[in-house]
Amino acid sequence: MRYQLKQIYCRPWTLSGLSLKLIESHYENNYGGAMRRLNAVTGQLEALDFANTPGYVINGLKREELAAYNSVVLHELYFASMGGEGKVTSAMADALVRDFGSVQRWRTQFSAMGYALGGGSGWVLLSWLPRDGGLINQYASEHSQAIASGIPLLALDMYEHAYHIDFGANAAAYVDTFLRNVDWKAVEGRFEDAGNVAPPRPLVQEEFGDLPGVGVEDVRAMLAAGQPLQLIDTRPKYFVSRQQDIAEGVVWRDPERVAEWMGELSKEKPVVVYCAYGFHVGCRTAIALRDAGFDARYMTVGHSGWKAVGAPIRMTP
Ligand SMILES: [Fe+2]
Repeated sequence: MRYQLKQIYCRPWTLSGLSLKLIESHYENNYGGAMRRLNAVTGQLEALDFANTPGYVINGLKREELAAYNSVVLHELYFASMGGEGKVTSAMADALVRDFGSVQRWRTQFSAMGYALGGGSGWVLLSWLPRDGGLINQYASEHSQAIASGIPLLALDMYEHAYHIDFGANAAAYVDTFLRNVDWKAVEGRFEDAGNVAPPRPLVQEEFGDLPGVGVEDVRAMLAAGQPLQLIDTRPKYFVSRQQDIAEGVVWRDPERVAEWMGELSKEKPVVVYCAYGFHVGCRTAIALRDAGFDARYMTVGHSGWKAVGAPIRMTP
């Protein structure tokens, strides 16, 4: 067997309001069942002649593998989430306040999501997002709809097998009981580990050294605040004629002729230039302006980023 069971993390006899019978049934039938399914599917995949197997068979097996693997991982996290006294540690309280406003607001949101799944099924997870360095409450239905790259820290199982033996249809009482059993010290340990995961690597354009860039959101905020800013579209000519639009209120200047038009600009006000997507043309133009003594930066996401945030454009004549 490729995948092996992990020992149950919480001490089931210490849980308050959740019976041994429920936890044993959950561990043996559902966690164990997911593990058995995962190993069975994995065995079939290992024996599969991928090159000569119809797509629908591959699709089915890979979907089953994903669901079974996630079910295994989330069940391990679920059992590891309990065994405490439900008292939020101070480090976790700080993190919850930062991302949800208050511990109570986090708790209300997390509980409401659990109540809302009563009679349905799925997972409620508190997850860490390395991309943005923040926490989020999320659903994961069918063991598979989880945020790619999110790192779950706390798992509430809302499949009926997780509560029916003790609570019948009273899913809300189960959610409240779960929260009373959360082991927040363990959550904090996982939170610390998750914080060490690096965010996705940023784009590096080594050829442009430490040329400063600025995001479109910051550019718009500067414009909205009425800050002096010379914003110039320097897409190559053929891009402007192909895309047929330009940012509202922005002038276009030919990047090939920067030496000719830079005299129109003031050295007293910051300059932001951009091309189509934020690569070479905008960077080169910004460098040319900086070499001439202007306080110039390039907009990292270019004209496409301007449109992607829904900023106003007009069609070029
Ligand atoms: Fe479960």
